[in-house]
Amino acid sequence: MTRENMEQLRGAYEDGGQLAAAYQAWEAKGPETKSALLELLPDDWSFDGKLVLDFGCGTGRTLRHFLAEADAAEFWGVDVGAEYIKALQDALCPPMHAMRCEVEPPLGLEYGSFDLAWAISVFTHLTDNSIPWLVELHRLLKPGGLLIATYIGRWNSEYAAGEPWNEDLVGMNVLQHTNGWDRGGPIALMSDWWVRAHWGRAFEILEVTPRVHNMRWALLRKRDVEVTPEDLARPEDDPREYLSVRHNLEQVRRELEFTQAVCEKLIVDVRRDVRREYEGSLSWRVTRPLRTAARIARSLRSRSPA
Ligand SMILES: C[S@@+](CC[C@H](N)C(=O)[O-])C[C@H]1O[C@@H](n2cnc3c(N)ncnc32)[C@H](O)[C@@H]1O
Repeated sequence: MTRENMEQLRGAYEDGGQLAAAYQAWEAKGPETKSALLELLPDDWSFDGKLVLDFGCGTGRTLRHFLAEADAAEFWGVDVGAEYIKALQDALCPPMHAMRCEVEPPLGLEYGSFDLAWAISVFTHLTDNSIPWLVELHRLLKPGGLLIATYIGRWNSEYAAGEPWNEDLVGMNVLQHTNGWDRGGPIALMSDWWVRAHWGRAFEILEVTPRVHNMRWALLRKRDVEVTPEDLARPEDDPREYLSVRHNLEQVRRELEFTQAVCEKLIVDVRRDVRREYEGSLSWRVTRPLRTAARIARSLRSRSPA
């Protein structure tokens, strides 16, 4: 990571205002998100009588734009954030349904019951629970059910990893693993080849959009197979599997170096501030002659013969 990258990242970490503005801009994209979803659905799609799941629905940024469709279909919003679900229950339910889930599956809703699920900007942040949740969504869908899931990589590498995008070095590379959700959560970069290889074992990949909101949007149809997380995680016989894991280790090493540099700087700053504070205090100034006398006495003692 270059010094310039470090400074940019440090700025991003320290500027809470920027983060709040980014969230606001994201929330305002709800109508565009709805349009992107509708655009991806098959031409003959109708919401009539359908059961629909918004997995990782957050604040209901997308769901709240489907109130008209909720006359004809049943919509469920699910999220791990209790405060999001409470707010959604107060604001949109009924006609919507909102439920809190745990960090790990299962969800507790009926398997084979949903016609459509979407996960917007969710698999972009899930880490060890990513594949287990994909398998859970596969189980929740009816035979032939549709899933729209977004993933990031190509347009996020500079920002997230501080390096240009290299498709051959990214499979599912997890960055900022310990980042809290109040700071956007961890980041999972994925490449097209990896999504096709791994998600493709559970879903037929019907369409992948070009850039929409700096993400890929994949329209997937449930394959008629039973899959486990282990089935989906198994590496392909493709050298990029190894290269991407090795590169992810390198990325994590750079993140650790960066964190260490920030911590060291913080320690120096805190020590300096503490020293300034006590050296400016009245008691420190009043007792200065005593400390000087003690220093002189020590030096005289060390010079006198034993
Ligand atoms: C970047 S936000 C996107 C929210 C929403 N889909 C949208 O487009 O506005 C990611 C969401 O995933 C949720 N999330 C994180 N881990 C989750 C999990 N294990 N199960 C369900 N939701 C999760 C977070 O609480 C957050 O609301």
